[in-house]
Amino acid sequence: MGHVRVFLRSILLATTAIGLSGEPMVAQDGTPWIVLGSDASASFTTNLSTLDNGSGRMSSGLRTTQTINGRTVALLDPVLEGLLQRTIHTAHHRCGGYTVHPTQEAAEAEAQNPNYEPGAVDRLAMFPSSIDQQAAVRPALDRVKGENIVATIQKLQSFGTRYYQSESGQNAALELKGLWESYANGRPDFLVKLHTHDWRQNSVVASIRGTELPDEIVVIGGHLDSINTANVDAAPGADDDASGVGAVSETLRVILVSGFRPKRTLQFIAYAAEEVGLRGSNDIARTYREQGLRVIAALQLDMTGYAGSSEDMYFVTDYVSANLTTFLKDLIREYNGSGPHSISHGVTACGYACSDHGSWTRYGVPSAFPFEARFEDYNQSIHSPNDLLEQIDTTGERQAKFSKLGVEFMMELGKSRDPAP
Ligand code: BES
Ligand code: ZN
Repeated sequence: MGHVRVFLRSILLATTAIGLSGEPMVAQDGTPWIVLGSDASASFTTNLSTLDNGSGRMSSGLRTTQTINGRTVALLDPVLEGLLQRTIHTAHHRCGGYTVHPTQEAAEAEAQNPNYEPGAVDRLAMFPSSIDQQAAVRPALDRVKGENIVATIQKLQSFGTRYYQSESGQNAALELKGLWESYANGRPDFLVKLHTHDWRQNSVVASIRGTELPDEIVVIGGHLDSINTANVDAAPGADDDASGVGAVSETLRVILVSGFRPKRTLQFIAYAAEEVGLRGSNDIARTYREQGLRVIAALQLDMTGYAGSSEDMYFVTDYVSANLTTFLKDLIREYNGSGPHSISHGVTACGYACSDHGSWTRYGVPSAFPFEARFEDYNQSIHSPNDLLEQIDTTGERQAKFSKLGVEFMMELGKSRDPAP
């Protein structure tokens, strides 16, 4: 009930803002246009009106213009950005939860993006869904080792911070490139590249070139950067998201050591700058579209190590492809029903585009996101100096389940060049 009232209040304010000015507002220098959930905008508006003692000064800090499909377009007074972040964090358990845009047009395009509506990407794009790579997948699953994932997490957390603008954040990118190159084993169809952005940290992209359909790409990724808004130098980011990058690494290692030669191109990506608005993945998804590269599907691994709920993993249901998510559940039924590779799963929702799968969805590419817990049970140490290996599964068994799903996903969508023996 309270929710409905607050929501209506924000609509009224939104209408008032347009009515008062009579024309669309123009951002002054440094005043960002933002898009945020209408629930978050309502909480923030309430907070501001409580704080401003009737002066109206605070209430004008967020000037909303319109709400489209539950997303509110607004001008934010930069002075209030910290308060907005704290409000969203306290009331909605999101660390960010809004996107920043240079112009009103760009913000409105984001709020109206039809690809975000449930089912939209599934109407746009198809992916092959036969499951017939048992001869390659089954032996590969036996090769996935939790201890390798743990070693990568340890290495990545030792950088102290992997903040996207920091020197150590970039050193982590170089370190990971070296690790992935060490898996190559002289294969000529394997290449690791740095994807540069207009900030310090690079994304790291490993490719196994497809033998028959090299222009069709299957992506698995996690984010390389970490964050701690209270102290940028103390962000070990073990669970968020060394655990995802470690699982991606192990998937890559196992696919290479298995000698798997895919028909489609397989890409393994460690995205830069996720924590500051999905910026690295957005750059990559946009560049690929501009270059006409066709991504068949993208699997996101972000936080794989913390046993917050009863099941091994939870499929996020918003800002993803429902068809691709169903395909992943089919893979689990085929390969992880029982025995040493078993995986139990449930569903959950973030309520916003909470990780890099959102960037693929933005550009109409099917993506899916298996997560370590129910959203409400997530690891409370993330974004703090406490996000350390000791807080998550130190054997790597839990993380390994995500790697196994990654192996199944990459092999079944990439398809072997060779007929099954
Ligand atoms: N790993 C988190 C996403 C996450 C956190 C998912 C908790 C589920 C539960 C991710 O790195 C992150 O922090 N994302 C931001 C949003 C992003 C657009 C900056 C967030 O969750 O607020
Ligand atoms: Zn995070």
